[in-house]
Amino acid sequence: MSTELAIETTGLVKVFGENRAVDGIDLAVPTGTVYGVLGPNGAGKTTAVRMLATLLRPDGGTARVFGKDVVKDADAVRSRVSLTGQYASVDEDLTGSENLILLGRLLGHSKPAARDRADQLLDGFGLSDAAGRQVKNYSGGMRRRIDIAASILNTPDVLFLDEPTTGLDPRSRNQVWDIVRAVVAHGTTVLLTTQYLDEADQLASRIAVIDHGRVIAEGTKGELKASVGAGTVHVRLREAGQRAEAQKVLALALNTDVQTEADPVALTARMEGQSSDRGAAEQAGRALAELARCGITVDNFSLGQPSLDEVFLALTDKKGVAA
Ligand SMILES: Nc1ncnc2c1ncn2[C@@H]1O[C@H](COP(=O)(O)OP(=O)(O)OP(=O)(O)O)[C@@H](O)[C@H]1O
Ligand SMILES: [Mg+2]
Repeated sequence: MSTELAIETTGLVKVFGENRAVDGIDLAVPTGTVYGVLGPNGAGKTTAVRMLATLLRPDGGTARVFGKDVVKDADAVRSRVSLTGQYASVDEDLTGSENLILLGRLLGHSKPAARDRADQLLDGFGLSDAAGRQVKNYSGGMRRRIDIAASILNTPDVLFLDEPTTGLDPRSRNQVWDIVRAVVAHGTTVLLTTQYLDEADQLASRIAVIDHGRVIAEGTKGELKASVGAGTVHVRLREAGQRAEAQKVLALALNTDVQTEADPVALTARMEGQSSDRGAAEQAGRALAELARCGITVDNFSLGQPSLDEVFLALTDKKGVAA
């Protein structure tokens, strides 16, 4: 047998009226990893996750969690998964500690065991000081942390995190990221939805980009980045007056379109080919020499791997053209 998949879907569909919110999604999520599902508002992320977590019945296709069908074997699936929703589920009027103890009791733990586990999680999530405070008085970041704590009371085999950091400040996002890393280190498979490319970049080993209910790209971060070309050249000139000429020189030397940016001294060009190509660096070097030869002063010149942002824009552009 090949490596066991934690999640596998084929042709998964959910229709709301006329709207094919999830329109034939195939996913294969390896066990023990963070899998990123990346997509804009309305792409179908929450709908897909809700089907996988057995909260919503698919209209077509199949979805399995550790080989168990989410419809036919929903109980078996439920016993192994946990969901931290985009809109959370803890009780606002209870304190952090009360919420966790209550959930622990509902999961069948004895009172002392529930209390111990609650303390342990509150401590691990930096919420000990806020343990006695009502959740409605928590900040957004604290709120997100208590939500995740609640969803891992019983260490699940698969944890669905639906946009766990939307609306959080950078420090709180980092705390949530650390929590996700810790959860995965314990052996849980995490399926994380996000609108943030840097979040997927930080956490996920594989990423599916979804748009309009379909997977438009899938792979490792490196594969996705490589799929949009060898890299991007960023140039900053000393003088804005030389930009038009520099644009022509670069376009010729790099044999690609060169874009001007809002910054009057900046130019960028996306290079064709694969990022494994040595050629890209050599060609960029020649382009730089050519600028110097033409008497154009360059303050800054860099060749970078495309960012996931560029990948995303390139992918959604392509789709726009095809549509
Ligand atoms: N219960 C529902 N009834 C009708 N339409 C729905 C329902 N839930 C979602 N939709 C529609 O399905 C589509 C996908 O929504 P979904 O919530 O899955 O997107 P999302 O990727 O999670 O977006 P966001 O990033 O905004 O959370 C949207 O067009 C949405 O309006
Ligand atoms: Mg959503």
